[in-house]
Amino acid sequence: MAKKDINFLHSKKQADQKLTMLTCYDYPTALMEDKAGIDIVFVGDSVGMNVLGYESDTEVTMADMLHHLKAVRRGVTTAYLLVDMPYKTYDTPEQALENAITLLSYGADGVKLEGWEKEAVVRTLAENSIDVCAHIGHNPQFHGSRRLVRGRTYSKGKSLIQSALALENAGAKLIVLEMVTKEISKIITEKLKIPAIGIGSGGNCDGQVLVIHDILGIGALALTYTKAYEDYENLTFQAICQYKQEVEEGLFPTEAQEFSIDEEKLAKVEQWVTENL
Ligand code: KIV
Repeated sequence: MAKKDINFLHSKKQADQKLTMLTCYDYPTALMEDKAGIDIVFVGDSVGMNVLGYESDTEVTMADMLHHLKAVRRGVTTAYLLVDMPYKTYDTPEQALENAITLLSYGADGVKLEGWEKEAVVRTLAENSIDVCAHIGHNPQFHGSRRLVRGRTYSKGKSLIQSALALENAGAKLIVLEMVTKEISKIITEKLKIPAIGIGSGGNCDGQVLVIHDILGIGALALTYTKAYEDYENLTFQAICQYKQEVEEGLFPTEAQEFSIDEEKLAKVEQWVTENL
């Protein structure tokens, strides 16, 4: 399968085929997401809270993102590789351009940035041929952990729609809608030419994105709009406990996990030990 580029992602919207996007923070997961055919493998700044133990996404730095991006890049062959621009790395168009160029030089195909009014930044990046994914609705970098559904009033619904159109007009190639009411996301999805990818924004978007830890059931954030397909937190904990118990009881390792030296060579070693030590 050929490498997926932005034209491929747009062609899926035109063909009315759903796009799949999933966060990814490491090499083995990147290999699996790519093999599974996920369209957009996404190094989100949610790495901060899911992997690095930070209290907020705003603590994530460029160095953090580059470290994880490098690992994910090694595992991706086919998928489109999207990376988040961390907090305070795109305050001005100039700063955004410099940081986006760095992220692309580490192997990203495009960058994602949050904000309902980021047209100037998006325009500068687009003019420099950089694929930008905008992100509106709930913006963790700016709204914090207080997750409010967006688009429940006339004025908020209208400003979300206006913002989506303005960002597309500025050159955004994709847009993420987070915690937007399903009715407003439907309008946005229908009005935009670019794909709208939803998270907690209903089933009418052109595609969906979730956090890998959430679908695997790892981490304590019980968000109503996500879905745990497995309970790896419990499975991992059980494996750790069983390993600890088997080591303590002398049940691990067994012969299956041991290596041996030939009897003859061992006899020589033992003789040397007896004579010299
Ligand atoms: O970083 C992230 O995981 C995100 C998703 C919520 C889209 O931005």
